[in-house]
Amino acid sequence: MSAEFLKVEGLSKSFAAPRGGPPLVVFDEVNFAIGKGEFVCIIGHSGCGKSTILNILAGLDDASAGVVVMAGREIAGPSLDRGVVFQGHALMPWLTAKKNVAFAVKSRWPDADKTRIDEICQRYLDLVGLTGAEHKKPAELSGGMKQRVGIARAFAIEPKMLLLDEPFGALDALTRGVIQDELLKICAATHQTVFMITHDVDEAILLADKIMLMSNGPHARIAEIVQNTLPRNRSRHTIHKDPQYYPIRNHLIDFLVSRSKDFTDQPPEDYDPRHPPLVTPGLTTASALPETLISPRAAPRPVVVSMRN
Ligand SMILES: Nc1ncnc2c1ncn2[C@@H]1O[C@H](COP(=O)(O)OP(=O)(O)OP(=O)(O)O)[C@@H](O)[C@H]1O
Ligand SMILES: [Mg+2]
Repeated sequence: MSAEFLKVEGLSKSFAAPRGGPPLVVFDEVNFAIGKGEFVCIIGHSGCGKSTILNILAGLDDASAGVVVMAGREIAGPSLDRGVVFQGHALMPWLTAKKNVAFAVKSRWPDADKTRIDEICQRYLDLVGLTGAEHKKPAELSGGMKQRVGIARAFAIEPKMLLLDEPFGALDALTRGVIQDELLKICAATHQTVFMITHDVDEAILLADKIMLMSNGPHARIAEIVQNTLPRNRSRHTIHKDPQYYPIRNHLIDFLVSRSKDFTDQPPEDYDPRHPPLVTPGLTTASALPETLISPRAAPRPVVVSMRN
């Protein structure tokens, strides 16, 4: 995996205060890289700026400072190289489910004939469990169904990078599991590069190679990057039996519950936002730690393996 398929450097976003005063700096000094074929999740509290980062990566919003480079080119505007699933479904209300997908597919392959376009649309609508609902308009679909049309549309254009903003939030547990499994299969088959926002730590552990932890705003930062050291061929049914699972899960929850709040004001002494630390809490089981770090009373501590991502 190349370390720098996508590179984000010194990204910040500020909004003017509504009644004058200093601008609201949502996040600043955000730096990270995503390798080709890597699946990266970002987790952080509501309002810390996750969707704003995703929109900048999509080319739909401008950063106040910093650059985003994908495959050697600076991102400046939207492109069919990036498939986006928005936090809201963002469908065209006057088009049926299939036509919403077809609109994107036609833009991606303008020379494809109708049969081919139809075939691609149907394949991805089937994949997300919408067989039979192809001809319904968004107003006739449930929230979860609308979200699934958005997922089908992003997958169908076979983008170089998928940008997913809480794509499974509106789905029932059963459908979410099915689509998560499909997403894993697609990523394994196509080496898809993915940037995904989620609030669900279990989903992040199941899907991601790396999980970026974002501190609370204002001035939110990427506090840490957690390397998911669980074997790549994970299954929802057995993942929790792996001894690495709970150390990783506990680390994520500990960050969200305790550390995210004060991180911006009181970061660790050696923290450098240009190189958020890469940590491997899954490897903190006694057997994986050097003997000098093993104490019968000590709670497992994350191991910082590198200050560079
Ligand atoms: N157009 C805007 N004008 C002013 N402030 C904005 C604007 N858009 C976003 N914000 C602010 O930027 C911050 C980050 O918003 P964003 O939607 O990126 O958060 P988020 O991390 O995705 O939250 P959630 O988890 O709730 O989706 C919020 O405080 C929001 O109020
Ligand atoms: Mg959001």
